[in-house]
Order: sequence, then C-alpha cells, then structure tokens
Amino acid sequence: MKTTNVKTLKVALLGCGNVGSQVARILLEDADALAARTGARLELSGIAVRTIDAPRGAELPRELFTTDAAALVKSADIVIELLGGIEPARTLILSAIEHGACVVTGNKALLAADGPTLYEKADAAGVQLSYEAAVAGAVPILRPIRDSLAGDKITRVLGIVNGTTNFILDQMDSTGAQFDDALKEAQRLGYAEADPTADVEGHDAAAKAAILASLSFHTRFALENVHCQGISSVTAADIAAAKDAGFVIKLLAIAEKLSVSAADGGTEGVCVRVHPTLLPREHPLATVRGAFNAVFIEAESAGELMFYGQGAGGTPTASAVLGDVVSAARRLVLGGPGRTETTTGHVPALGIDAVRTSYCVGLDVADQPGVLARIAQLFAENRVSIETMRQTIHREVPGVTPGSAELRIVTHLASEAALAATVQAITGLDIVNSVTSVLRVEGV
Ligand code: HSE
Repeated sequence: MKTTNVKTLKVALLGCGNVGSQVARILLEDADALAARTGARLELSGIAVRTIDAPRGAELPRELFTTDAAALVKSADIVIELLGGIEPARTLILSAIEHGACVVTGNKALLAADGPTLYEKADAAGVQLSYEAAVAGAVPILRPIRDSLAGDKITRVLGIVNGTTNFILDQMDSTGAQFDDALKEAQRLGYAEADPTADVEGHDAAAKAAILASLSFHTRFALENVHCQGISSVTAADIAAAKDAGFVIKLLAIAEKLSVSAADGGTEGVCVRVHPTLLPREHPLATVRGAFNAVFIEAESAGELMFYGQGAGGTPTASAVLGDVVSAARRLVLGGPGRTETTTGHVPALGIDAVRTSYCVGLDVADQPGVLARIAQLFAENRVSIETMRQTIHREVPGVTPGSAELRIVTHLASEAALAATVQAITGLDIVNSVTSVLRVEGV
C-alpha cells in the first residue's frame, strides 16, 4: 500500500503477557495490511511492562518496552489495556480517555467492577471504548450484538463462555471422571489455574454474562444482577444420569427477557443467570466440546444464531483485540461519536425467582413399597408437574447395605419457589436418604 499522506496513529500497549505479546507481534508484522484496512498507519509507540527483560511469547524490539505506562498513555491515539485486574488498569484507562485516546481492553474483571464509570467517561469524551476480547476470546460476539443486530430485538442469549468449565464437564461426560479428577486434568493441560475458583464457581462466566446482557438488552446489568452457581458440586453420577436421559451438562450463561404474570406484578424484565444446565444432546450448544466457547442468540427477526470458537489463548484473543483496534482506528480516521453501547432499554433486572424452567431432581431413596407414590404426591401438592421419572435400583447387600434406589425426576416448567418448596418437603421424608442434586434443564 502507498503510505505517503496516510495518517499515523500511535498505539500504546499496556501489558505483554500471552495476549499482549501476540498483539504486538501482529501489529508489527501486519502493519501494511492493517494500514490498508484502516486508512491509517498503526504505529506501536510503546509497550508498558513491569519488568523490561522478562521472557515474552514473541520476539519484540527491546526499545519499545517501557516501565512508564502513565507517560505512554498520554501520547497515544489508541490504548490497548491488557494488564488485567483493577489497578493500575482503571487509572490508566481513565487517563487515556481524558487525553482523548480510544481504548481497547479485554479486562472483564474491571468492566464488571466499574464498567459504568468507564463507559460514561468514554461517552462524555466522545472516544471509543471496546472490549470484544473480554467475552469468549476470539469469538466475535459483542460487535455482532451491538452492530449487526442493532436493528433487531434479542430475546434470549445462551452462552458457553468459560472454556475451563466446558473442558471439565466435557471430560466428565466423555470419560466418566469425577469433578476433582477432571479439574486436575484441566490444570495439567494449562486450562485451569492453580486457584480455579473464578472459573469453577462461575464468577468469570457471570462477569461475561453481565456484559452480554447489557449489550443485548440495552440496559446496564451489574455483576450483582447475575444469579451465579458454579460446577463444583456436579458429580459423575449427575453426568451419567443426564447422559442416559439424552442430556449433556453445560455451564450456561443465560440472559433472557421474561414477562412476569399479572398476579406477580405483570412486569417485563431480564433475568441473567449462570448455572450448570442439562441440555438435550441435539442442541447446538451441546456439541461444543473441550475448552471451546459458543454463544447462541435468539432474536425476533433473525431467529436463532450461533457464534463459536476459541475462548482463550494468546493468538486467538489477540484477533479480538486487533479487531477492536482496527475499529477504533477507522473511527479516528472517519470521525463520529465513540458510543459503544446504548442504555435506552431501561429493562428491570429480574431475580432468579422470575424464571420458570424444567428441573432435574436427583434423589437417593429407600427401595420399598409406596416410595414413588409419596414423592409424586409432594410434587403434586406443590403444583410441580413431573415429565419423566427414571429409577435405578442399588441392590441390598445382606448385612452391609439396605436396598436403595436412585431417582431422577425431570419436571415440566416450574417456578424456583415451587421447586424449592417441593425439595424441602421431600427432604423431610423418612424414606428419602438425600436429595443428591437439583439442576435446571434448558432447550426442551
Ligand atoms: N478463564 C477463562 C476460561 C478464559 O476458562 O474461559 C478467560 O476469560
């Protein structure tokens, strides 16, 4: 490409880990192609790091490195923040906005903790703040929701947005492993961190769910609005029983528009939730294996859409970052407002109580006459309708164990309150040894 008379935009990179080093490499290697796509040369003006001589995932010119992130930000047109965590990322992003730079970040923890402050400051300054890499790594999902579906009405988003938990559940499903062993395998392969809490307890997925819901429903949803349950209590027996019945268990992030009945106030709102979910094995999301991510969207005009790909990793996530960089550069070349979200939806956030879903209840019960009848009676009394019931008998070993039966009951749609009342009543029965699991079912 002819590069004379082409504007040069200074790009400052904060952080040079797995993703940052690949972003820097591609900015340098593909400079001509990126200039052709944006109409401006993207000049990597510096890379702010804590230690200049730390090993990097790519060979990068030493003179680009600096430890003075604050100074680097002040002279940039585009700031890429890949430090992670809250500080100093927050202060540096605010400084970039104040100095009129567009910001690209992948920092979902910061967006979950203080997104609204950053969005408002960016709007007020007329600069673009984009964060495609914060949700589902390489999978282009935020810009399609924000731009491609801007003329449609999204009604429901179902996402597998955490690769670590998808790997663990997939491992349990394909090998019969218990959770702890599948987690160890995920750690051995580098998918799960030494402290896996943020992934396995659903916190990472909840931060992503809040972002997806905010863009899909044009209303800001905070982390506190997300009902969150992780996968650490899912057992090999749950997975096996689900498999027998034609289901797979996935950790889903769900944001959906709901109308609450007139008797309950008649509101319309959005419930955002993350929890392990039984999905029919023929559902498109059931085919998402290993550490891959996918987001399934239902929209009034478009119908069903699915976006699929790698949810983590240096080079895949760098692709999402660079897409945002090109978008920011185009805006700087062409001009126009930097608005990256709209908040005109004003949809109330509904609690999990507003959701009516099917449930799969696992019970360990005594193997004796009348047990099924007594349990079915309690479901009926609480107005929870049973769709299917499967029983597996564990034979009595004389002198060792009394006979017991494992029941897996799948219900028709029921409210959280009705299901909870049913489970509480069942728990009190002398013929029930334990309620082994209560899992939601979607996609039926
Ligand atoms: N820890 C995340 C995952 C990747 O397992 O998908 C970063 O969001």
